[in-house]
Amino acid sequence: MSIDIPKVMLNDGHEIPSIGLGTIDLMGNKGVLQILDAIHSGYRLIDTSTNYDNEGIVGKAVRESSVPRDQLIVSSKLPGKYHDFDNALKMIEEQLARTGLEYFDKYLIHWPNPDDGKYVEAWKALIQAQKLGLVRTIGVSNFLGHHLEKIIDETGVTPATNQIEVQPYFHNKENVEANKKFGIVTEAWSPLGRDINDAKEHPDLIGIGEKYNKSAPQVIVRWLHQRDIVPIVRSGDPIHQKDNLDIFDFELTDEEMDKVFALDKGEDGRVEDQNPDEYHEYV
Ligand SMILES: NC(=O)c1ccc[n+]([C@@H]2O[C@H](COP(=O)([O-])OP(=O)(O)OC[C@H]3O[C@@H](n4cnc5c(N)ncnc54)[C@H](OP(=O)(O)O)[C@@H]3O)[C@@H](O)[C@H]2O)c1
Repeated sequence: MSIDIPKVMLNDGHEIPSIGLGTIDLMGNKGVLQILDAIHSGYRLIDTSTNYDNEGIVGKAVRESSVPRDQLIVSSKLPGKYHDFDNALKMIEEQLARTGLEYFDKYLIHWPNPDDGKYVEAWKALIQAQKLGLVRTIGVSNFLGHHLEKIIDETGVTPATNQIEVQPYFHNKENVEANKKFGIVTEAWSPLGRDINDAKEHPDLIGIGEKYNKSAPQVIVRWLHQRDIVPIVRSGDPIHQKDNLDIFDFELTDEEMDKVFALDKGEDGRVEDQNPDEYHEYV
């Protein structure tokens, strides 16, 4: 049975589903089948990037799916070495060729790479790509409040979404608040802590889930949903894929929400120690 995922309205009038599918490590022919399984279960937002080396198979799954193209939101990202205006536009065309699609429904700058100082130029390229019809809704990823302020001040265009790390050990409250201040929807990457931390096996989360007959990962996805955050949760397992969508029939109490917040480890909780003010994406 396919789950109908509630939608979220963005500041540019586009809508996206309130849960998306992450695709790191979903590759090759098996990856195509895993993405098709996810679409079959109800996923309509599929997140990819040049970094994941799978734009080709994401496009293949979208083209092979029986779900009409206009009901799927394919989201990719501008790699760090293409922040120059002209190169960014050429790269978007290249990424589209890799997917075999005519346009990306959603497109983000992957990292600000502040040491290069070109993220405003990259943002201008996304604005141009949108005008050219190469991409529909445009946003950013891993932008802190001051990066957002700069691109908005210099272009007058506010990103629709900002995809940032948010998971039980790294709540990232400040960044989530900055997004809210600008009317930007937050997407959460590594919402389950990938396989790097043990959040999805934490006894407190298992304990909360027992009351509702839900797993710890379902508690995490629900906790994000109740924070108005769109989790981009990855699974190649059809049962996990379905479970991660099955979070709309229960509600965490304020006390349970606080219990998840209490797991925060601040900067030490990041899965890969990637502070966007310091991290440089080389791809
Ligand atoms: N913008 C950025 O800079 C950035 C950075 C990192 C990630 N991302 C995006 O965010 C997505 C998600 O993050 P992630 O891939 O790092 O990891 P994640 O979604 O936090 O965790 C994925 C892991 O959790 C397991 N899992 C999923 N559902 C489960 C369930 N119900 N029960 C038990 N285990 C479960 C998966 O295994 P199974 O496959 O076996 O279910 C997989 O090992 C990425 O795939 C990518 O699209 C973006």
